Amino acid sequence: MSDEITLHPFAWPPAPIKTERLVLRESEARDRAAFIELFTSPEVGTYIGGSRPRDELERTMPKVPGRRFGFFVVELDGATIGMITLDRRDTERPGHVRPEGGETELGYMFLPQAWGCGYAAEACAAALDWFAGALPGEPVVLSTQTANDASMRVAAKLGFTEVERFEEYGAEQWFAVWPSVTPSD
Ligand SMILES: CC(C)(COP(=O)(O)OP(=O)(O)OC[C@H]1O[C@@H](n2cnc3c(N)ncnc32)[C@H](O)[C@@H]1OP(=O)(O)O)[C@@H](O)C(=O)NCCC(=O)NCCS
Repeated sequence: MSDEITLHPFAWPPAPIKTERLVLRESEARDRAAFIELFTSPEVGTYIGGSRPRDELERTMPKVPGRRFGFFVVELDGATIGMITLDRRDTERPGHVRPEGGETELGYMFLPQAWGCGYAAEACAAALDWFAGALPGEPVVLSTQTANDASMRVAAKLGFTEVERFEEYGAEQWFAVWPSVTPSD
């Protein structure tokens, strides 16, 4: 069976997912400006490799960025405040819970004005819930700098548990899995 079939046995995108305060949905053209804000923000980039130049992004970002499996836009009262990704982890990178690699990896980025209100945890919990329904029993991994306190806190609140720590991109990374599973040999 090909990876494509293994990963996509159901329709994408799902209907918009509503939480208490937020909506998770597929990306649209109107999200482009918020994505440019996210990727050009030095605060957002602090622990994820830095920010990107605005003129480059204005030139190169597709009209509808992020239209792919596992990419959720997070909306609050009609405004885009962040994004969540469930992507395949590169087999070449350190950190795996399966010998063959290719696990699904959670990522999250929110605009600084929306930080500290519990939105990341609320939105990621809904995305994980959706994923668990779509692919029952499939683990989700996550890697974040140990210095990224807010991200570590979000991951812990979601129920991720540590698998290992390693050095990557010149910093210590926390590699964790959800739900808690015993890594295969
Ligand atoms: C990581 C990020 C998504 C968190 O967003 P958020 O909406 O503020 O997250 P939440 O409000 O759901 O939770 C943040 C938690 O971290 C805590 N926190 C925030 N900043 C903190 C800090 N500097 N030190 C310690 N704890 C901190 C908050 O108190 C909160 O915990 P609590 O709910 O127990 O009070 C956001 O900071 C972000 O987008 N950062 C840039 C992108 C990034 O680094 N992504 C991680 C890539 S793996």
